[in-house]
Amino acid sequence: MQTELIQIEENSIESSAAKVQLRRAGQILRSGGLVAFPTETVYGLGGDALNPESSRRIYAAKGRPSDNPLIVHIAEMEALPLLVREVPEAAGKLAQAFWPGPLTMILHRSAAVPLETTGGLETVAVRFPSNRIAQALIREAGGYVAAPSANRSGRPSPTLARYCMEDLDGRVEMVIDGGEVGIGVESTIVDLTGETPVILRPGFVTQEDLRRVLGEVEMDRAIISEDSGQAPKAPGMKYRHYAPRGTLTIVEGERDKVVAYINGQTKEAAAAGRKTGVLCTDETRGLYRADCVRSAGSGTDEAGVARALFRILREFDEEEAQVMFSESFPESGVGQAVMNRLIKAAGHRVKEV
Ligand code: TXA
Ligand code: MG
Repeated sequence: MQTELIQIEENSIESSAAKVQLRRAGQILRSGGLVAFPTETVYGLGGDALNPESSRRIYAAKGRPSDNPLIVHIAEMEALPLLVREVPEAAGKLAQAFWPGPLTMILHRSAAVPLETTGGLETVAVRFPSNRIAQALIREAGGYVAAPSANRSGRPSPTLARYCMEDLDGRVEMVIDGGEVGIGVESTIVDLTGETPVILRPGFVTQEDLRRVLGEVEMDRAIISEDSGQAPKAPGMKYRHYAPRGTLTIVEGERDKVVAYINGQTKEAAAAGRKTGVLCTDETRGLYRADCVRSAGSGTDEAGVARALFRILREFDEEEAQVMFSESFPESGVGQAVMNRLIKAAGHRVKEV
């Protein structure tokens, strides 16, 4: 299959050229094809959410296990009732506060949503993204677009169209390049099907943000402690994720000790003929010796770190780094989501020094 790469700027979706292209992209989705597109979090791999065949194609294109459910993206609040058994009060409040935006809600599915889309579950994940290219595409596609992150299964989520092409060229009909995404980590997922709302995946919308609107909100035990022995409730959280090709280790401790430890390790690895990488901050980048030293920005700017994280993991691969180390980042705000993704990317290798 030939994958067509087109460019659209979020600021000019009203131009007649962009309109023609978005209509064509919508047509591809309506006829069962796949289109990768930008959202405010990461790029998504879209298919018609109400067409079981489209969902099957998404799993195949990603190389993703089909028990891992997809998020259904909508572009107006009025689209929600068709997807769910009922819209609970909490969902109305969260939509009011955070939609459109980087929040996904788990609700009981209606018969309109095929089991292929929900990975066999009786619940459905729904999100209303704020990116205007995404919104226009969803409208052109008929209102319901299933979209996992647009990476091959296990790879870092794409924050640039280039990375969608890297993973999906030849496997999807179209990739829409809308520039670099703003947030850089996937949406917060909150499960509203139980008595108390539970966060299944941390993201830009934090537990405090949700508590302000709903009162009590819990964090899935499997997120808080990885050795809780509990299976995560979001099926996707159990799979190997975000991983660069080499071995990544997170090093925690006082700054001087971290720097000394990492430099010792990279020196040893280099002596053994291996290519090394370090993920650090603007404040520390000058202190490291490695083949590929990458700063995620200032350590005090969690949002900046979130935006840079997946790009740097992919750059390590581009540089063919084999042995990588990362500093650990503060967990305030979106920092919790950053550390959640980084720990997975490191396959849970965390070294205390
Ligand atoms: O920001 C995002 O959410 C991006 C953009 C493209 O919108 N999408 C995304 O999709 O991250 P994906 O498929 O990579 O991650 C969806 C996660 C998976 O961990 C999946 O298991 C979980 O959501 N999920 C989906 N439906 C669910 C359900 N009914 N119950 C529990 N977890 C669910
Ligand atoms: Mg994903």
